[in-house]
Amino acid sequence: MSKPVNAQSFRSPGRSSPEDAFHAEVLVLSAILALAVVIAAALALLIFVRPSAAAQSAASAAKSQSSDAASIARGKKLFVSYGCYECHGRAAQGGVGPRLGPDPLPLSFIEKYVRHPTASMPPYTEKTVSDRDLADIYAYLKSLPEPPKAKDIPLLNQ
Ligand code: HEC
Repeated sequence: MSKPVNAQSFRSPGRSSPEDAFHAEVLVLSAILALAVVIAAALALLIFVRPSAAAQSAASAAKSQSSDAASIARGKKLFVSYGCYECHGRAAQGGVGPRLGPDPLPLSFIEKYVRHPTASMPPYTEKTVSDRDLADIYAYLKSLPEPPKAKDIPLLNQ
């Protein structure tokens, strides 16, 4: 009696039938298709997400601008309330202490100097004037207008 032949008997390991080759082809093709879909999705993401990312960065730029204004306003108040103005002048133009703005020294230097002055300025610890306070004072100093040039002041040119 011969064994009934079924499809399973053709699938012996090590022997590839035309059917197996077809299956392999389908597998490769669907892998390529899946890859293409993934790439297309990535491209679509790039194209569609970019503008919104740009919009977002514009929004955050606007936000940081308004927070700049808030920081400057706060710094201006702190410059008075902490008494910086008493020695450095109401417009930070200098007095007993040197001119501080516009074009202030780097914030990192200001932080170091205010905490550990090396001459006659009194020290301000972090407890009194926080880093945020100094950052706001720095923003204020940076925002100060350039003083007019001597040649642009009529009284000095008579
Ligand atoms: C009692 C007067 C006085 C007060 C108040 C004062 N300073 Fe000064 N500051 C000075 C003097 C004087 C100097 C010059 C160096 C020195 O003698 O320590 C100076 C130097 C500085 C410097 C270094 C500038 C440079 O060009 O080297 C910075 C920055 C500074 N002060 C920031 C501040 C800030 C910010 C405040 C307020 C939180 C403040 N100071 C309050 C007197 C003062």
